[in-house]
Amino acid sequence: MMLLLAAAITFVDVQPILERRCVACHRKGEVGPMPLTTYKETRPWAKGIREAVTAHTMPPWFADDRFGKFKNDPRLTVSEIETIRGWVEGGSVEGPAVKPIVTLPEGWGISAPDKVLTMKTAYPVPSKGSVAYQHILLDSPCPADCWVSAAEARPSVRGVVHHAVVYIREADSDWLKDAKSGVPLSAKTQTTSDILLVYTPGQPPFIAPDGMAKKIPAKAHLVLQVHYTPNGKAAADKMKVGLVFAKQPPRQRILTLQMNNGAIRIPPEDASYHASVSGTFPNDALLLNFFPHLHLRGSSFEYVIAEKPGQWETLLRVKPYRFNWQLRYELDQPRRLPKGTQILMTATYDNSKNNPYNPDPEAEVVWGEQSWEEMMVGFFEVAVPAEMDKKSFFIRTQSR
Ligand code: HEC
Repeated sequence: MMLLLAAAITFVDVQPILERRCVACHRKGEVGPMPLTTYKETRPWAKGIREAVTAHTMPPWFADDRFGKFKNDPRLTVSEIETIRGWVEGGSVEGPAVKPIVTLPEGWGISAPDKVLTMKTAYPVPSKGSVAYQHILLDSPCPADCWVSAAEARPSVRGVVHHAVVYIREADSDWLKDAKSGVPLSAKTQTTSDILLVYTPGQPPFIAPDGMAKKIPAKAHLVLQVHYTPNGKAAADKMKVGLVFAKQPPRQRILTLQMNNGAIRIPPEDASYHASVSGTFPNDALLLNFFPHLHLRGSSFEYVIAEKPGQWETLLRVKPYRFNWQLRYELDQPRRLPKGTQILMTATYDNSKNNPYNPDPEAEVVWGEQSWEEMMVGFFEVAVPAEMDKKSFFIRTQSR
């Protein structure tokens, strides 16, 4: 009976699962090591696919089930896993012909962009060593204020880009004042500029919920801050940023906020170092998502809030934290938070030799850009009234 059932499963049943759960990364030009858009591409990987889905290593996801529900939770259902298992155990049969999965125009994960900004010259990444963060000024996309409903950064050589932050530098900002359009600058800088998006391999692009958008003020420039990581082969990367403009003015503006703990100091061999950072919401806001960022010794990251003093509530616990998977966690139900709500983020680090990713358990580790140094950054996004900007969000008014 089981065998008969298994034999009846063909690629026709499997392909929709791949389309829903895998091709975002497993398609041409994306981070997955092989495309899975046709039978021919998928067949040689059948056993590996069965292993990966039954062991829950694919798709990658690290949120602790006990806390929160997330819109972008990519995990397979039990019946999807059984379909794949049955297909593989039944001989990975093709069955009736199916059309290949249609991937998006020119590899964009957003709909066809209204505007594309590309680096003027390619950045030469050496084959080895380390490269300081590069800042590359792109053209100013909007002569008048504009609203962006989707945005995506795409490197031309994905394998050498560890991550990139796309900042919105307002026209009157002094930040990187000396930067010339297109000429990379490797200054160590701090900025309060708003963030358009953060690119990490495998992270979905920025797509705003209905009625929300990010604002690019008139004549603001986009600044790419890129962390290039040599991977053994010299390369020249020319990153581009695609923008989709909102069809109508949004009701709410999305702001990307972050809290850092720059004072981390992890002792050698410490298997469980804790660091935290906390604050209070200066104004009402609708909380949308989280994006924790640690380096190789990071082992967990947690966001908790308290609307009332002492009533802590865990909204996300990422455990284990994996440096290779810089994921964003989108709340299934955005959370309305009144001003005064406390937010506390806690990270743990494993600097022991039992951490297989640890480059040096003997080192005392402090804050730094490179992956053998550490960071503690908790990004999160909020929606606020459309007319509010980041500066005014942080103005605290006396509550009555
Ligand atoms: C967020 C991006 C992402 C998604 C979604 C994803 N993968 Fe992957 N996958 C990767 C990357 C990157 C690797 C290589 C690194 C690794 O193995 O950790 C990989 C590796 C694999 C491997 C191992 C290949 C090898 O070299 O042995 C298999 C099998 C696989 N994926 C199957 C799947 C299947 C099946 C799905 C959907 C159910 C899926 N993946 C979803 C990014 C992804």
